[in-house]
Amino acid sequence: MDELKQRILQDGIIIDNRILKIDNFLNQQIDTTLINHVGQEFARLFQDVPVDRIVTIESSGIAVAYAVSLAMNNRPVVFARKKKSLLTSGEQYTASIYSYTKEEAYTASIGKSYLHAGESILIIDDFLASGAAAVGLAEIAAQAGCSVAGIGIVVEKTFQGGRQTLESKGLRVESLARIARFENNAPVFAD
Ligand code: G4P
Ligand code: NA
Ligand code: NA
Repeated sequence: MDELKQRILQDGIIIDNRILKIDNFLNQQIDTTLINHVGQEFARLFQDVPVDRIVTIESSGIAVAYAVSLAMNNRPVVFARKKKSLLTSGEQYTASIYSYTKEEAYTASIGKSYLHAGESILIIDDFLASGAAAVGLAEIAAQAGCSVAGIGIVVEKTFQGGRQTLESKGLRVESLARIARFENNAPVFAD
């Protein structure tokens, strides 16, 4: 998606040749025009599969998932929480997710009333690194008896192996900007 790649080149900040900060248009300030275009692009990429519900994880996935919903006939958005819920464990689906960035595991949870067996869900997130978050959301979908129509990612860092992990589980991944590496404090796109 050229508009997104141009914006990454213009406003992205690279840290330690490993992390891309896009606080200027997604992770702190949100450019709603650009993110609506991101939503429309995911709707186009996944138009061939049924999507009953869009599933993401707080916090940065929510804005993207909302834009996808607007572009996909207002399909409901459900986001997993990372903080402990007031619900008891029997009332929610949970998955343990290890964050390589933060070097700790957390429990993602979704209340059971928000996922329904037999539905097809689309998983959306802002970044794909090792794929741990998407794997956790796919586990939650499986617990609920949902099928995963695909995984839509705004920025994929291809050198961290997330795509291989997800595809080896039979999951389809579509990403809008693929970064192969960082060089001289600039991203090098994979295609
Ligand atoms: P993984 O899910 O693919 O395994 O990724 P990882 O554990 O490495 O990522 C943990 C968090 O860091 C996730 O957000 C993820 O979106 C984010 N992240 C990973 N790589 C980058 C990057 O290059 N740049 C930025 N800006 N973020 C990255 P989070 O901390 O769980 O959540 P939130 O920020 O959405 O609240
Ligand atoms: Na993030
Ligand atoms: Na995220």
